[in-house]
Amino acid sequence: MKTYPLSNGDQMPALGLGTWKSEPGEVYKAIRTAISVGYRHFDCAYIYQNEVEIGAALNDAIMTGEVNREELWITSKLWNTHHHEAEVKECLNITLKSLQLDYLDLYLIHWPVAHRKDVIFPQDASGLISLSDIPLEDTWRGMESVQSAGLTKHIGVSNFSVKKIKQVNLSATQKIEVNQVELHPLLQQKELLQFCKEENIVVTAYSPLGSRDRAAQMKADNEPDLFEIPIIKKIAEKHGYSPAQILVAWAVNRDTVVIPKSTNEGRLKQNQEAANIKLSSDEMDSINSLDKHFRYVTGEFFALPGSDYTVSNLWDE
Ligand code: A2P
Repeated sequence: MKTYPLSNGDQMPALGLGTWKSEPGEVYKAIRTAISVGYRHFDCAYIYQNEVEIGAALNDAIMTGEVNREELWITSKLWNTHHHEAEVKECLNITLKSLQLDYLDLYLIHWPVAHRKDVIFPQDASGLISLSDIPLEDTWRGMESVQSAGLTKHIGVSNFSVKKIKQVNLSATQKIEVNQVELHPLLQQKELLQFCKEENIVVTAYSPLGSRDRAAQMKADNEPDLFEIPIIKKIAEKHGYSPAQILVAWAVNRDTVVIPKSTNEGRLKQNQEAANIKLSSDEMDSINSLDKHFRYVTGEFFALPGSDYTVSNLWDE
């Protein structure tokens, strides 16, 4: 498995298992299966509301001697309710308890969006807190302290633009090491990738398969289907792979981490195998020509009337 070095030389595995939308009741089995077929990297978050079950699976795999903690790479994310510097640790401690771990490999600020503490999903502007009241730099200081305390080995962000990374890094003691964003052939974010490369920031691709199992209210009408793109299908057919495998392979071939979600044994294996597929430069070029800057996860749910969050200032575009 390809890995990417972080600043202290630790290696982050190129393929991880996404756990967003992995339901309680099925995620335990998915994690155990994933470990048995060779996954060592798991991408979690407080807000996915399944960390207790993931923790049980990780712990059982460790107790049976199938893996040891040091072989695993576990990422989780700070929810928007805990952006105050002093509250970062509280959210991380809940995650650590759920996952039955005493440290994470990577902890990310999930969104550049702050909520009131009791508001998991804001329904109106009153549930949001302006970034001028809790600047991202304050949240980052909280991230630096949990890292110094040994609760996570690495810290990073998710859904951050170049502008927001620069803003945080300006006053950071420990610079951002990872940025996790939506990436697939219809949303290639080449400038963001180039910037992150120059800054030694590892980029993780979420929703690499188009996140087709999102809740209906998060979906637009007539969304494009990545599996039906003729260029993807053609490359897949030529090699005898599935379109999903070409999408995973493309992400790894362009030097990003990729975290496809599956709870199905056959598809877990397919995705694992795909991380080792080498695409030719012609194949990469033809996929690289598909960019449309199309987001499946638009962030519209944070752009609530009366707040100062807009889709435009969320992505800085
Ligand atoms: P399932 O969990 O039943 O395998 P994303 O990672 O972009 O969020 O996409 C996840 C969606 O893609 C889920 O619906 C998942 O279904 C499906 N999926 C994951 N791997 C594959 C694959 N190899 N082939 C087809 N669909 C897949």
